[in-house]
Amino acid sequence: MKDSTDKHCVSPIHRAIASRRSIRAFLPTQVPRAIVEELLRLAGTAPSGSNVQPWQVHVVAGEVRDGLSAALLAAHEAGEAPAREYHYYPLDWRSPYIERRRATGWGLYSLLGIEKGDREASARQHGRNYEFFGAPVGLIFTIDRDMQRGSWLDFGMFLQNIMLGARGFALHTCPQAALANYPHIVKKHLGIGDEKIIVCGMALGYADPDALINQFQPERMKLEEYVTWHGI
Ligand SMILES: Cc1cc2nc3c(=O)[nH]c(=O)nc-3n(C[C@H](O)[C@H](O)[C@H](O)COP(=O)(O)O)c2cc1C
Repeated sequence: MKDSTDKHCVSPIHRAIASRRSIRAFLPTQVPRAIVEELLRLAGTAPSGSNVQPWQVHVVAGEVRDGLSAALLAAHEAGEAPAREYHYYPLDWRSPYIERRRATGWGLYSLLGIEKGDREASARQHGRNYEFFGAPVGLIFTIDRDMQRGSWLDFGMFLQNIMLGARGFALHTCPQAALANYPHIVKKHLGIGDEKIIVCGMALGYADPDALINQFQPERMKLEEYVTWHGI
């Protein structure tokens, strides 16, 4: 895997940002609990409005992880309709977002040799989400249902802290909205009450350096497309 670091990415924090990417094939190598603890403690230093710290995380590994994966995969394979408790995406897809979404999906699937319209192979690949892409540790994130948009903004900072902090331990991640597709299953397995919303999940582990899928790097907008300069 090539890092997209360039001459400006000289410090460890820059390297962590530049080398973070969504990894979708992990080695079975265990991650010691002490490392996960340190990572989550560090991530908990994230800023949040009025320091309300709206994040909660369930760490799953071993038999619990396997049981949860099996139940989610069974629902997916039975064709159960996803029932996320919030709208992640716009209700009406439009340009330029729809094109970016398609480019990401098709880019990933074509790298794997999955042809457009091959629903079976696409569904099988999607199902890998429920196995945390083979990562030994899964993270499930919840937020109290009555928290508002600002707290979801804070939550993103906590998530990003985990993803960047993971790099400092030579770990990789994949954030996973797919893990919020069947909230009733996740809640039942982990004893989570309905006053919580499952925000997303995250795979955490050591990347498989030989896996083709880990070469996938979706393009980013050019700076000019998202920056407007004023007085500088
Ligand atoms: C909150 C969140 C949820 C995501 N959910 C999924 C998911 O369920 N499955 C997946 O394969 N990738 C998921 N992704 C990864 C995105 O596809 C990925 O971040 C994007 O394509 C950019 O690629 P990169 O992370 O490798 O830079 C998610 C990303 C975020 C931030």
